[in-house]
Amino acid sequence: DITLDKFNTLRLKSIAKAYIKLETLTELNEIAELSKQYPKFFILGGGSNLILPEYYEGLVVHNHLKGITIDSVDSEFKTITAMAGENWDEFVAFCCENEAHGLENLSLIPGTVGASPIQNIGAYGVEVKDFISHVSVFDLTSKSIKQLDNASCKFSYRNSYLKNNPQYIVISVTFKLPRKIKLNISYGDIATQMATIESPTPLDLRNCIIKTRQSKLPNPAEIGNVGSFFHNPIITTNDAENLRQKYPDLPVYDLEDKGYKKISAGWLIDKLGLKGYRSENVGVYPKQALVLVNYEPASKSDILALAEMIKEKVANNYGVRLNIEPIIL
Ligand code: EPU
Repeated sequence: DITLDKFNTLRLKSIAKAYIKLETLTELNEIAELSKQYPKFFILGGGSNLILPEYYEGLVVHNHLKGITIDSVDSEFKTITAMAGENWDEFVAFCCENEAHGLENLSLIPGTVGASPIQNIGAYGVEVKDFISHVSVFDLTSKSIKQLDNASCKFSYRNSYLKNNPQYIVISVTFKLPRKIKLNISYGDIATQMATIESPTPLDLRNCIIKTRQSKLPNPAEIGNVGSFFHNPIITTNDAENLRQKYPDLPVYDLEDKGYKKISAGWLIDKLGLKGYRSENVGVYPKQALVLVNYEPASKSDILALAEMIKEKVANNYGVRLNIEPIIL
């Protein structure tokens, strides 16, 4: 038995039956064999998008594959491969230093490079899918390494083919990053702050994103959380218009598919007066209603009970179904 307390940013107390670190590619075959000896297994990265049970009756494979290489440079792009166990924000900093642009908006997202394509991490107008060339995975079923190109990853909002196929262990992610600077400051808050800087650089944008995140989101080192606890719901354009009539301030975002809109779950929860709500050791973060926090000690059932209460209120008041964002084990 091993404790996973330190390996999950929600800081739930959790014990796993078995645990193994994955540090080199040569260990992959052995891990494939080992995984068969347990009723279940999961791949742990930074543990920043997980809800762990008090006891996990399976094998935890902790991805510690490290290394970053600049594969090629042409007139337009730098192609960079990072191993799955690299820290995401350190990788973003590396790209910034090496004049490979585009990932600035994704600064300070907790977790690892390997986890980034699984739920297609996104923030401030950018999704990681916009810069991924391909993902190398180890298929535990066939015990072979495969490369999934961007299209095969079937990326969508906080989702991908990988998320639904846990037999793949992400080994590395290869990014194609423009050399030419093109800052994405489309997001309201960020645009306002960046407008105050004369000839802003990618590093200015990175710093602005870091400042914004620090002001809104709890630092997992201080207070247990998994970032947004729910997806921003995607509803039909018709339903969005009806809601907009009742709630003119509701933030509504366009999607490529004109038949649907994405609406702000944080706003819906906030308007119900739940921001800062606390029940025993769990609560809604006082500065961002989409983030649930663990005031410790709390268990999976405590946090899920709070989530259910919120889901019910949102459904009853707005007729909108919320989906939980982190992976529940
Ligand atoms: N809002 C409220 N009250 C709140 C929270 C938000 O009224 O308590 C309103 C804001 O005023 C704003 C809108 O809702 O008009 C959007 O809020 P915010 O910019 O904080 O972003 P979000 O939609 O709540 C999403 C992502 C975050 C990402 C931010 C910034 C999801 C599930 N969440 O949150 O990602 O950092 O946008 O791009 O899509 C994560 O996935 O864990 C995460 C933190």
